[in-house]
Amino acid sequence: MAVLFREKEKLFVLETKDTVYQMMIGDYGVLKHLYYGKKVGDCNLSYLLQMYDRGFSGQIPEAGDRREFSMDTLPQEYPTYGIGDYRSEALRIIDGNGGYGADLRYQSHRIYSGKYNISGLPAMYAKENEADTLELTLRDQVTGLVVKLLYGIFRELDVITRAVRIVNEGTTEMTLEKAASTCLELPHSSLDMIRFHGKHAMEREWERLPVGHGNQSVGSVRGTSSHQHNPFVILCAKEATETYGDCYAMSFVYSGNFLAEAEVDQIGQTRMLMGIHPTQFSWKLEPGGAFETPEVVMSYSAEGFSKLSHTFHQAYRNHLCRGKYKLSSRPVLINNWEATYFQFDEEKLLQIAREAGSLGVELFVLDDGWFGKREDDTSGLGDWYVNESKIRGGIGKLAKSLNEIGMKFGIWFEPEAVSEDSDLYRAHPDWCLSIMNRKPNRSRYELILDLSREDVREYLFTSMCSVLDSANIEYIKWDMNRSLSDVWSARLPGNRQGEVFHRYVLGLYELLEKLIQRYPDILFEGCSGGGGRFDAGMLYYTPQIWCSDNTDAVERLSIQYGTSFGYPISAVGSHVSVCPNHQTRRTTPLHTRGVVAMAGSFGYELDVSQLSEDEKNEVRQQIRLYKKYQPLIYNGRYDRLSNPYEEKGYAAWQFTDEERTEVLVNYVLTRKHANENIYYLKLRDLEEKAYYQADGGEHIYTGAALMYAGLPMPRDKKEYEAVQIYLRRVSFYENDSD
Ligand code: DGJ
Repeated sequence: MAVLFREKEKLFVLETKDTVYQMMIGDYGVLKHLYYGKKVGDCNLSYLLQMYDRGFSGQIPEAGDRREFSMDTLPQEYPTYGIGDYRSEALRIIDGNGGYGADLRYQSHRIYSGKYNISGLPAMYAKENEADTLELTLRDQVTGLVVKLLYGIFRELDVITRAVRIVNEGTTEMTLEKAASTCLELPHSSLDMIRFHGKHAMEREWERLPVGHGNQSVGSVRGTSSHQHNPFVILCAKEATETYGDCYAMSFVYSGNFLAEAEVDQIGQTRMLMGIHPTQFSWKLEPGGAFETPEVVMSYSAEGFSKLSHTFHQAYRNHLCRGKYKLSSRPVLINNWEATYFQFDEEKLLQIAREAGSLGVELFVLDDGWFGKREDDTSGLGDWYVNESKIRGGIGKLAKSLNEIGMKFGIWFEPEAVSEDSDLYRAHPDWCLSIMNRKPNRSRYELILDLSREDVREYLFTSMCSVLDSANIEYIKWDMNRSLSDVWSARLPGNRQGEVFHRYVLGLYELLEKLIQRYPDILFEGCSGGGGRFDAGMLYYTPQIWCSDNTDAVERLSIQYGTSFGYPISAVGSHVSVCPNHQTRRTTPLHTRGVVAMAGSFGYELDVSQLSEDEKNEVRQQIRLYKKYQPLIYNGRYDRLSNPYEEKGYAAWQFTDEERTEVLVNYVLTRKHANENIYYLKLRDLEEKAYYQADGGEHIYTGAALMYAGLPMPRDKKEYEAVQIYLRRVSFYENDSD
């Protein structure tokens, strides 16, 4: 068991592979947090709690004269608002009398093998022997509010998951105004927060800032996790690097509004929180009613970011992604979006597909514009039936023609949106989110369907099934091209409108689940104008997500760098596109575009029929190499060898298999200088006492030399040129003199 309750000491000890988490039932039943970090042996860490009387920090009534016993300074597992803790809270609730107070005390606990379930929400899963659960029940004696803290402890991974079940066991209605999924208290400050901000076509930009006094947060109120901030954050020691130092990460398994907070308090302690964003969140809890928060996945590394990322890569690939393509290789695809945009007919599509097939591409993806009256982005969304003026003979015929030339067929949907110029909107104008008596905001000429409504979900399910049943469709790209606004549902009473944002996400998950259950062999790729909903929640349904609408190889270096901190490489949809690039007008070598796109789920997005013979040969070679490297790229360990935000000359990364027999080194010169320096890449985590040799190379390197002395990159490279070196372990050696 990874969870232990030491009865006499009232101590809970949660152990993962290299970490330990301790908390205890303190005086008056207050649940105190003690420690999360590297293993410390058999030691009760309650001595860490040093309590002193602090001015303006009061006491709970039972503490009497113990002026040091204040909720305002105690590290807690699930702090609440209203009873004397003035820091950022995990829970804010209004009771039946309008009182803002919840005083939670330990009531009971349960430990069992296997991982807890939360209903209707994505979450990490595990076999009985892979994880254990601690369920801690806290109760507010006055109102009957019961809060169950759920901890999932993975035995062989440094992962602890948390979620919360909140039940009204009282007699009057309560209103939840904030319900974070987790809280982590650290006894010190001097930490940095690494977060990933962005915008459309430039997502997950790495940013490292010191955490100061007061509340610092990132979040989304856009209804999706958003391009602007990602629900993955790291708090780390000032001196932490890729391979050194304390770091704590939280990743939200949720695709809607979120808030990640860090606060240094008056006495230099740091509190970290993550959960649903409280803005426009208000959930009615009738007597007997329950609410479950989404899950947060937490990890700690004593050895820097690199270990943290490996943990998330393994965790999400093995315990979050599902389906036929979870671990298996995925087809190399070609998508027609950047090749044709809305201007295509079936002949044009087949022309691209035939050419792509002859180069080794395996799946053809028909993007936006195949349905309804969709000639551009002003119309047609919601009308999920084929536009026969573009695809003569329909989807079934097109799929058949593609299958005949040996290609799989995939198709694009944007189920959550509706165009005003569509049959669906004309028939059901009330199906979209819009505030009573107001005209809703448009974005990209779209309105949002109210997925909190069952009839809307039923329409989407039925109309999508009729397309999917009409042809041999083996892939779906699930797009979503705007942020939510005017969030109000005609199906809910006025005092429940604070539930719509979350009910929308629950509706989305329900629809996705129904579809993947019915079509278990379809590969789903998530997308939201690129990476606007790149989160662990979506990964539960879609094992890959289109990483960004920006396909420029140089900009992708930063986007994919940021994404790699919290998400596995297999999740990152990445394509080779045409040059000059459509987003930046930059020209990069085809080879570089291939090397960069290979750090993900690889594909093409250009009219390959326009390529020269030389370029076609290069594409053939890329596909051959990608198929050779794919197991290493997907299952191997990924190491960032540079930080494009700090390293101004180049970007580099490495894949290594578990046995350290194969290594793929990737390098792109991002800025050329006169009289260029030599850049040496120090590789990571190889066998020190082994010999390695590069494909096609003669020199023999020791693993130790590659790690400690490094590998020089060629100086004669031009700006934006790439180098890819594949090394194999050839033998071991016994001692240093050999
Ligand atoms: C946004 C996506 O990210 C693009 O790849 C493309 O599918 C367009 N939407 C189509 O409208």
